[in-house]
Amino acid sequence: MTGPATPGVTARVPAKVNVQLAVGGPRPDGFHDLANVFLAVGLYDEVTATEADELRITCSGPDAAQVPLDRSNLAARAALALAERHGRSAAVHLHIDKDIPVAGGMAGGSADAAGALVACDALWDTRASREELLEICAELGSDVPFSLVGGAALGTGRGERLTPIEVGGTFHWVFAAADGGLSTPAVYCEFDRLCAAEGRTVPAPEASPALLDALRTGDPKALADTMSNDLQPAALSLFPSLADTLRTGSAAGALASLVSGSGPTTAYLAPSAAAAEDIAQTLRTSATCRTIRTTTAPAPGAQLLTAR
Ligand code: C5P
Repeated sequence: MTGPATPGVTARVPAKVNVQLAVGGPRPDGFHDLANVFLAVGLYDEVTATEADELRITCSGPDAAQVPLDRSNLAARAALALAERHGRSAAVHLHIDKDIPVAGGMAGGSADAAGALVACDALWDTRASREELLEICAELGSDVPFSLVGGAALGTGRGERLTPIEVGGTFHWVFAAADGGLSTPAVYCEFDRLCAAEGRTVPAPEASPALLDALRTGDPKALADTMSNDLQPAALSLFPSLADTLRTGSAAGALASLVSGSGPTTAYLAPSAAAAEDIAQTLRTSATCRTIRTTTAPAPGAQLLTAR
């Protein structure tokens, strides 16, 4: 006799934008020290874990065709890491309902890893502590711990050591996903190449106190005046047409326009929800972008939507 079908467990995880990304020189391990101010934004992937005979990944959503469905997928690696630590099988079906642009600099892959971890922990009743989950996240990638935590945080080290930041208001954003992707290692490599070509000494990365204040007070104008992304020149060098998109967003009323993380998604901070809609409309009609989305920040970290 077969019992009732086991219901799946779904975790919802936000995308991020880096409102400050200060990058140091290359480290002996190939990574770069960062002062990385993450802000979670209200675009979400949902990861559903269901019991299965073997580890299997499926994906739906506009960018689904670009998502690897083998064990190179960070969600699969998250399930394997949790299973190994708890001496159990990782036989699980992970379905990713993807709304975060792929290879866009918005931590979509990291979100899926954090979502898989939280969903598998609930499905398997492994009851991993927050510290253990954060440890696994840090092993999986520099941005994964923040996907778990959400809100706003300063990431130091390679971005994985987090200090929460208080946010005193709601910020309105527009995101333009470019037609194409950028590889994060390639953008860091280009950053190193540009620094060497310019003969620049790269200072130790530090968070801007004015930017942290702007987040605390919830003041969009002050945030716009202090935002920065050290990877932006490298992203523009590899994807020159992004400069036009950034100019279009600024001319349409954005308080500030910047590349999101390693790109090529571009981000526009708006003074209001209505202004965000106007900027989005202008970008839709005048720029060559894949999709334009409006949303708000901060957003919560990985959350279970259904429990067993
Ligand atoms: O940690 P994650 O796997 O997301 O990093 C992807 C790549 O981005 C690294 O292999 C490295 O080339 C680059 N990276 C870096 N410094 C960081 C984070 C990422 O150089 N702090």
